[in-house]
Amino acid sequence: MNLKDYIASVADFPKEGILFRDITPLMLNGKAYKYASDEFTTFAKEQEATLIVGPEARGFIFGCPVSVNLGIGFAPVRKPGKLPREAQSVTYDLEYGTNTLSIHKDAIKKGDRVLIIDDLLATGGTVEATISLVESLGGIVVGLAFLIELEELNGRDKIKQYPVKALMKY
Ligand code: PRP
Ligand code: ADE
Repeated sequence: MNLKDYIASVADFPKEGILFRDITPLMLNGKAYKYASDEFTTFAKEQEATLIVGPEARGFIFGCPVSVNLGIGFAPVRKPGKLPREAQSVTYDLEYGTNTLSIHKDAIKKGDRVLIIDDLLATGGTVEATISLVESLGGIVVGLAFLIELEELNGRDKIKQYPVKALMKY
C-alpha cells in the first residue's frame, strides 16, 4: 500500500513557510489506517515492548491501536494542565513554537519496555522530550515509531541511539 496517497500536503499551515502533512485522510480510510497500525504493531512485537507511550494529540491516534492490538498499556504524554495527578514535565522547541509535555509519574514502572509512537518526526523536539520523560521515570525506550519523517529537519540526529521505524519519508 502506498501510504503517501493518503497524506494531504498543505502549504503555509499553521504558519507561513510550513508545509503541513495532514494525516486525516489516512485516518478516514479504514484500510490505510489499519495497515499503518499493523506496521507499528509488528515493530512493537519485534522490540518486545510492554508499554506504548504517545504524545498528545496525534500520538494517541497511532499509539492506542497498537496497545489494543497487543493487549498492553498506553500512557498519554500531555500538554499543560491536563493530567490530574502527580506528573513529570519537560519544555522543548517545536518546528513552530515551544511546548511543555507531562506524564503521570506512576505511568512508567522501572524496567518497562517502552515504544514511543507519534504521527510525525520533524525537529525531534517532541520525541526527545518524551524520551527524557520516560527515562527519568526508569523506563527503557526500546523504539521510536512515526508515520512520517521530515528528513530535512534532521530529527534523526537527536535519536541516533534508538531503533527507529518511519513508515513514510518526505
Ligand atoms: C506535532 C506532531 C509531533 C510533533 C513533531 O505535534 O504531531 O508530535 O509536532 O514535531 P517535532 O519533531 O519538531 O517535535 P503538535 O505539537 O503540533 O501537536 P498536536 O499533535 O496536538 O497537533
Ligand atoms: N508537526 C511538526 N511539523 C509538522 C508538519 N510539517 N506537518 C504536520 N505536522 C507537523
